[in-house]
Amino acid sequence: MYRYIGNKSKLTPYILDRIQQMIGDSGTVADIMAGTGMVSLELRKKGYKVVASDIMTYSYHHLNVNLCMKEPPKFNGLKDVIKDDLGCMYKSVLKYLNDIEAKKSFFYKEFSPEGEPRNGTSPRKYFTSENAMKIDAIREKINEWIDGNLIDKCEESLLKHTLIMAVNEVANISGTYGYFLSTFKKNSLNKLELKQVDFFEDNNDGHIIKLGFAENLAATIKADLCYIDPPYMKRQYAANYHILETIARGDFPDAVGKSGLRDWWDQHSKLCTKTRGLQSFEKIISDMQCSKFLISYSEDGLFTLEQLQECFSKFGKVTVQEIEYNRFKSNNSKLPQKLKEYLISVER
Ligand SMILES: C[S@@+](CC[C@H](N)C(=O)[O-])C[C@H]1O[C@@H](n2cnc3c(N)ncnc32)[C@H](O)[C@@H]1O
Repeated sequence: MYRYIGNKSKLTPYILDRIQQMIGDSGTVADIMAGTGMVSLELRKKGYKVVASDIMTYSYHHLNVNLCMKEPPKFNGLKDVIKDDLGCMYKSVLKYLNDIEAKKSFFYKEFSPEGEPRNGTSPRKYFTSENAMKIDAIREKINEWIDGNLIDKCEESLLKHTLIMAVNEVANISGTYGYFLSTFKKNSLNKLELKQVDFFEDNNDGHIIKLGFAENLAATIKADLCYIDPPYMKRQYAANYHILETIARGDFPDAVGKSGLRDWWDQHSKLCTKTRGLQSFEKIISDMQCSKFLISYSEDGLFTLEQLQECFSKFGKVTVQEIEYNRFKSNNSKLPQKLKEYLISVER
């Protein structure tokens, strides 16, 4: 369950169809705001070469799994640490981590009801104390293996990806990690469990994964088509998914304020601002070695369709496809049921 703001699980078929119309069945596609890495995975499955990036470290780990793995890695460095009782080191490593002794450390102190946040605020309830202690033990074991050179970069990404997916299942939140709920909801009372990832076997290799701002990376990327799925709203991803970022980085940041935010200014996105968002689009499109762009945007977004069309038309021919779909909304929401998503193509 990955309730990632703006994830494209429902819209991927439309995106893939449009990409196929624009460049055919093969070529290199850049997915430069890749988030969960879901669109990148579907592009890989269709046979495209993918160059994927995002500003968030958790996205980097998801992308490593979605684009670079075909089978479970061997975990050779752990053979002296973990007995392979299950005939597959990956399964044995997950069992070892699932059975690990819980530990009262950073997540317990900062994000559980029995904790005592360092900044003196009331305990936070993102996780039950048992789950927070489990996350602590797993995180610190992964760090120990990285420091001891016992796991390689792919194995690190796989373990962090798996831990993030497990954490999403038991987090006591309503959608994002911007804040926690005051009482524990049903799924958050379940025991955290690392589950095996499904691997996709193919011969489609050579994908590239980058971490950083699209504005800065654009000049280094060459592609037949660039898919841009920007933030639509003012909500910054770094603030709304701070806990996943902490798992991805494996660090112990200061948790600030009632919600325990890490310092996220280095991942502040201009695309979430009305004043600088359009400049960002312009920089990306003008710097990238690419002549075709496909941009997803929502009717609910910070910029109107007219503003986007005016901005993009400086670069070439602009075509808009409108897709209507059911909005996710709470029972008492006054917002209309239907929402329009735009797929805007720009051809230089
Ligand atoms: C709408 S989400 C993408 C969702 C993704 N397509 C999926 O299906 O999961 C927008 C993403 O843009 C990233 N982002 C925001 N500003 C960025 C920037 N300037 N450069 C690169 N990525 C950025 C966010 O971290 C977030 O993951």
